[in-house]
Amino acid sequence: MIARTVAEIRRDVAAARTRDPAAAGVGWLEILITWPGVQALLAHRLAGALYRARVPLLPRLVAAICRSLTGIEIHPAAAIGAGLFIDHGMGVVIGETAEVGDNVTIYQGVTLGGTGFATGKRHPTVEDNVTIGSGAKLLGPIRVGHGSKIGANTVVIHDVLPNCTVVGNPGHPVRVEGRRLEGPDADWVRLPDPIADAIKGLAHRIEALEHGADPDSEDEGDGAAGGYQLPQGDVDRAVGPNPAGG
Ligand SMILES: CC(C)(COP(=O)(O)OP(=O)(O)OC[C@H]1O[C@@H](n2cnc3c(N)ncnc32)[C@H](O)[C@@H]1OP(=O)(O)O)[C@@H](O)C(=O)NCCC(=O)NCCS
Repeated sequence: MIARTVAEIRRDVAAARTRDPAAAGVGWLEILITWPGVQALLAHRLAGALYRARVPLLPRLVAAICRSLTGIEIHPAAAIGAGLFIDHGMGVVIGETAEVGDNVTIYQGVTLGGTGFATGKRHPTVEDNVTIGSGAKLLGPIRVGHGSKIGANTVVIHDVLPNCTVVGNPGHPVRVEGRRLEGPDADWVRLPDPIADAIKGLAHRIEALEHGADPDSEDEGDGAAGGYQLPQGDVDRAVGPNPAGG
């Protein structure tokens, strides 16, 4: 039992040394005392053992104290693999049914959370060797394949294949096995939007009709606007509440 705990602590410290450039050359005691990610794992092991032993109150108390000291909240029931490294820590939340594989790296502000009030398995499963960038939100009972990278501030609500890089909101793959995605559907941001185009065309036709112009005339202007040109010069602006809200 003691030998196993010592081995786990050694591995936590080694993970900090390997994956945090700031830890290079720092002694193991200093890392143990001052690295919040390492302390949170220690606390989680204690809380998890108490939880599995069905001890009342204490597991959550340990988790709550850990949260107030490190800013890292790990539910005592969450399954955490070996070699997890949580860098900086503040604002990390790992939910009750989350599963984290071996050698995973998590930066500050990461949430492995649920999407609502669902019960049962409702938090992500993260396979081995995944890196999750700061501020990323992984929501729901999704699976993140081994070796994948989740970019900072990404919101992931669907499964991620192994060895992918996923970025953005909603999170979408930009690299698979280290290669840039090819093909017409690869550029998510600039995909054609036929519905928006149709609405724009209708708006132009209505505006043309309101101004008495022939919306089908091709004499002037471009075809998409039905030949109607928007009036130049001063335009009466609609007055109303700011759509940006307060
Ligand atoms: C995603 C990440 C892991 C890089 O992964 P990678 O596989 O090496 O990917 P690349 O750097 O080649 O970037 C792939 C593409 O995603 C874009 N990208 C990278 N990170 C992004 C992010 N967080 N959000 C949006 N787009 C991002 C890149 O610009 C690039 O775009 P391109 O295809 O148009 O060139 C890295 O950018 C990242 O976000 N790391 C998190 C680091 C962190 O949280 N640090 C906190 C330290 S305190």
